[in-house]
Amino acid sequence: MTTRTQIPAVDLAVHYRARGFGDRLAYGFTKTLRFCADTFFAKRYGHRAIVLETVAAVPGMVGATLTHLRCLRNMCDDQGWIRTLMEEAENERMHLMTFIEVAKPTLFERCVILGVQWVFYLAFFALYLVSARTAHRVVGYFEEEAVISYTHFLAELDEGRTPNVAAPAIARHYWKLPDDATLRDVVLVVRADEAHHRDVNHGFADVLAGRPAATTTAPYPEHADEIRLAA
Ligand SMILES: [Fe+2]
Ligand SMILES: [Fe+2]
Repeated sequence: MTTRTQIPAVDLAVHYRARGFGDRLAYGFTKTLRFCADTFFAKRYGHRAIVLETVAAVPGMVGATLTHLRCLRNMCDDQGWIRTLMEEAENERMHLMTFIEVAKPTLFERCVILGVQWVFYLAFFALYLVSARTAHRVVGYFEEEAVISYTHFLAELDEGRTPNVAAPAIARHYWKLPDDATLRDVVLVVRADEAHHRDVNHGFADVLAGRPAATTTAPYPEHADEIRLAA
């Protein structure tokens, strides 16, 4: 099912059942961070999106870098993983560039972003070195939570607590949305992106665990080939 802007529908019921210690660790870590984010941001969804998208754009680049280095060392094919992960990082950065047009981070939030980036980059890099499988599982669970958060954001918009302003130009360009697209359309396409990343990362974790992917991959919305807006 699609809307007028061809936004893929998202299956909100998808949840990967943890199998083994690494999965449970990934899930517990994700739920702990969810609690922290809920406490810190409450219902300030625009601010929440900005801070968390600065984190969400990190794992893809770490995964791409370390997969690239492993393929060089082992002189083997990457099965398309490197470009997929780099594209994920770019897509998450476009989420950030979109939401920065909608809300502006406070000085305190900018300080949080700086601190969290150092800690999260180093921690995720170390985790990926120790267990790439658990690292991808963490991202799969992060994305499950992202789908839930953007669903809450949609409810805020639908119930009128957050104004449904016009979609920023950068978002209309990147997701090929019509001129009259709104913030609601943007949140729908962002949520569809997150659902796709969720299934891709759970799938990568399954491959690394040596078993077939447990979930089918949610369709990815269409994105602009050239992401930079004409000046
Ligand atoms: Fe995102
Ligand atoms: Fe994401």
